[in-house]
Amino acid sequence: MSIQRIGVMTGGGDCPGLNAVIRAVVIKARARGWQVLGIEDATNGLIDLDYRSPRGNRWLEVADVSDILTKGGTILGTSNKSDPFAYVTTKDGERVEVDVSDVVVANYQKLGLDALVSIGGDGSMRISQRLIDKGLRIVGVPKTIDHDLGSTDYTFGFNTAVQTATDAIDRLQDTAESHDRTMIVEVMGRDAGWIALSAAIAGGAHACLIPELPYRIEPLVRAIRARQATGKPHSILVVSEGARPADGEQSFAGARDLGKMPRLFGAGSKLAAALEPHLATEVRVTVLGHVQRGGTPTQFDRILGTRFGAAAIDALADGKFAHMVALRTPNVVCVPIAEAIADPHHVSLRDSLLQAARDVGICFGD
Ligand code: F6P
Repeated sequence: MSIQRIGVMTGGGDCPGLNAVIRAVVIKARARGWQVLGIEDATNGLIDLDYRSPRGNRWLEVADVSDILTKGGTILGTSNKSDPFAYVTTKDGERVEVDVSDVVVANYQKLGLDALVSIGGDGSMRISQRLIDKGLRIVGVPKTIDHDLGSTDYTFGFNTAVQTATDAIDRLQDTAESHDRTMIVEVMGRDAGWIALSAAIAGGAHACLIPELPYRIEPLVRAIRARQATGKPHSILVVSEGARPADGEQSFAGARDLGKMPRLFGAGSKLAAALEPHLATEVRVTVLGHVQRGGTPTQFDRILGTRFGAAAIDALADGKFAHMVALRTPNVVCVPIAEAIADPHHVSLRDSLLQAARDVGICFGD
């Protein structure tokens, strides 16, 4: 069946570069004469065709995307609580998760869509795969600041997030040095330590704690004291939100909300509380949080987003449904979505980036 009408949606947490993908998808699809429906707030716009937040689904023209390349966020809106297989609704006065995936399939048909471009991270790719299994034709585009999707060298968004974290560390170096303090910088990344590891190297941090390597306090205290003994009273410690002590657990903000992943929270303050009794100097914590998700994308993410968006249209034209576009440097290729979600991308203990960090003396608390 030839393609005349496609939908495009962004799912999961936002990240810089989403608009670059949307722009490329719309420009290339319109050049082929295809109509492009922008679907509002991830699958919310397919679960309820009258969904408005704030604008609802809309047909996109080149003029709608002509000024968005440099803007962070997503003009389509996004959501990380719109899984149609575990959709949160109220039944008999109680909030429950229900499967509304048949509604998504029916609405996709009602809209006359021939295929979808689903731009998202591992959660969105899992949902896409399950919708593909129900008959939808989908091509995936990998996004995430966490860099934890398999089968692609990079996702867009990660480069900008690392740059933001690096800029913050540069600023914290100045104030840490002025006050002779130990500064803890907590960064995002969920269960992957890529943002922490990359920003620690780029920012010249002295310690880095990642989820893949549970930490102990003693090596960290030794590293900070060793610096102090050489006349460097300040230290910068980068900690992943998903880091955990060898004898403890990851830190969460309470129980999981219905329809959502549990929210990581408090790794930096947990580390500060454990470190402070061992140090004569003061400890301060900075949580970068969602600052890492916003802002104008770096040139790397603009280019990667543009390449991915254009490649997604080629993939649809070639009938490569159930595939995700991926960077295999220097090429953009297509890989089965099933393969990308089967093997998440975490820091391996033999990773050369981890080795480079160790080579310049960064302590991992192990
Ligand atoms: O997956 C991207 C991410 O920013 C993670 O690094 C972080 O743990 C999570 O999303 C935060 O999600 P939310 O925006 O729901 O707080």
